[in-house]
Amino acid sequence: MKSILITGCNRGIGLGLVKYLTEQAISPPYLFATCRNPAKAEALQEIAEKHKNVHILQLDVTDFESYGNVVKSVDSVVQNEGLNVLINNAGVSSKFTRINFVKVEQMINGFMTNTIAPLMLTKAFVPLLKKAAQNKSSESLSASRAAVINFSSVLGSVAENSQGGLYPYRASKAALNAVTRSMSVDLKSDGILVTSMHPGWVKTEMGGQNATLTVEESVSNLIKTVLALNEKHSGKFIQYDGQEVPW
Ligand SMILES: NC(=O)c1ccc[n+]([C@@H]2O[C@H](COP(=O)([O-])OP(=O)(O)OC[C@H]3O[C@@H](n4cnc5c(N)ncnc54)[C@H](OP(=O)(O)O)[C@@H]3O)[C@@H](O)[C@H]2O)c1
Repeated sequence: MKSILITGCNRGIGLGLVKYLTEQAISPPYLFATCRNPAKAEALQEIAEKHKNVHILQLDVTDFESYGNVVKSVDSVVQNEGLNVLINNAGVSSKFTRINFVKVEQMINGFMTNTIAPLMLTKAFVPLLKKAAQNKSSESLSASRAAVINFSSVLGSVAENSQGGLYPYRASKAALNAVTRSMSVDLKSDGILVTSMHPGWVKTEMGGQNATLTVEESVSNLIKTVLALNEKHSGKFIQYDGQEVPW
């Protein structure tokens, strides 16, 4: 993977991915790490100071009007190489969303960030993803050619939902899964692979301290799995360790 863009990199899994990728013997030459407020993203700034391949870009993923500028910034760095991998990581979850408490606003926020933003950001980056795919036109689908990774959650699996509640999160991630499947069909002929991935239950602000995986365990497995993705994984729902998750 020559170039990767990851959203929501100031903390949690996004920050962990940037840290992990910069520590590899062969770190991607272009690593675009977006966050809402770069001035306050101290841990990310520290990484970028040490690793010149890290480019921090300001992006609130719900600010759809700003996508054009982000695409232009990436394009000016990668030029004819295009963008290999887009990781839609930024996400939100709401608390107190049992049937008697769930609010319209929570549903709208969940869908805006977890479903609509990954779809529209991917749409904005299609020309750059296509360029990367065309540069390896003799190869089959893979992340080293061109890929979109949507961070979903097992909580978005309809089949696995035996606990109920969590309407904004479950519904917006289930919808993201539907988006993944459609994009995998629409972008196949352009040579772009698309998957939904569950990063595991991870110790972050969202996952909480009772989660089973550390950020390091999750991201190292996620990257190993992303590197092994091929044609048969496009349009699928896969977890950090490569196991398929039921829709
Ligand atoms: N942790 C888990 O156990 C787990 C399990 C399954 C799936 N996931 C998924 O994995 C992804 C990362 O989760 P995490 O555990 O790292 O969560 P986290 O610690 O809560 O971090 C969420 C990240 O998303 C960013 N974000 C939220 N809204 C944004 C917006 N409008 N624009 C830009 N950035 C925004 C946050 O930035 P700010 O600091 O600016 O808010 C933060 O960087 C999410 O999609 C989540 O649904 C996590």
